[in-house]
Amino acid sequence: MAWDERQQRLLAAMGLRVWAPPAAGAPAAEAPALAAVADAEASPPVRVPKPQAVLAAAPAPAPAAALKSPAAGALAGLGWPELREAVAGCRACSLCEKRTQTVFGVGHPQAAWMVVGEAPGEQEDREGEPFVGAAGQLLDRMLAALQLTRAADGELPRERRVYIANTLKCRPPGNRNPTPEELAKCEPFLVRQIELVRPRLILAMGRFAVQALLRSDEPIGKLRGRVHRYQGLPLIVTYHPAYLLRNLPEKAKAWDDLCLAAEVFEQQAPTS
Ligand code: URA
Repeated sequence: MAWDERQQRLLAAMGLRVWAPPAAGAPAAEAPALAAVADAEASPPVRVPKPQAVLAAAPAPAPAAALKSPAAGALAGLGWPELREAVAGCRACSLCEKRTQTVFGVGHPQAAWMVVGEAPGEQEDREGEPFVGAAGQLLDRMLAALQLTRAADGELPRERRVYIANTLKCRPPGNRNPTPEELAKCEPFLVRQIELVRPRLILAMGRFAVQALLRSDEPIGKLRGRVHRYQGLPLIVTYHPAYLLRNLPEKAKAWDDLCLAAEVFEQQAPTS
């Protein structure tokens, strides 16, 4: 595949080096096995402004329906330590039987950005932190390109912080897709996490995050590129990093989604 200059710039911002055949006459470089490989070093942040028209054209659908779950009320008053404890002790579905541990979430508890993913994989199950495998490394590079971090410590302002959580807190065996029952059982935990973080913007990555937060089965391709609302908060839909690792051409679209998110974010009045 031939990448134009802009696409190459965007891919570089997401930490992806693109292999191109050497120009005629140039010394042959060793071609990597894949067309693009993840670069171990974070690339310098690059921001590509999006035209204002994208936002102006974005419809604002009605807020998602209030989330109904028997456990939602029970979690309503919980603070972070109690919520973490409730997740750790959850036995609401059979995923608890095979997990090594629950994977609660990571980041600053008052981050201004929130990323919602799908479910822990093998590595996350082992380490107890979301997005620590290959998809997580790509996610970190995407966030770094926007000068955002999951790090909870240090002096950074809230605007640069991201809280990351999954729709499921336990690993589905063999990394299979979550079932609707598992999603429904686990959802109150995510709802409470969002209430506690009170982010200025949510980035929903992949179809299970979208199903949980927007109640939509529409493909990501149909939902991305505009501003949705979750409980009044702006929500941007984008591809899951694991999908991006398998579908290189979609990375430029994901970058566009991040740029849209950054633009929407900047238009939000800071909350306390
Ligand atoms: N994919 C996710 O959606 N979440 C993780 O924590 C890891 C991979």
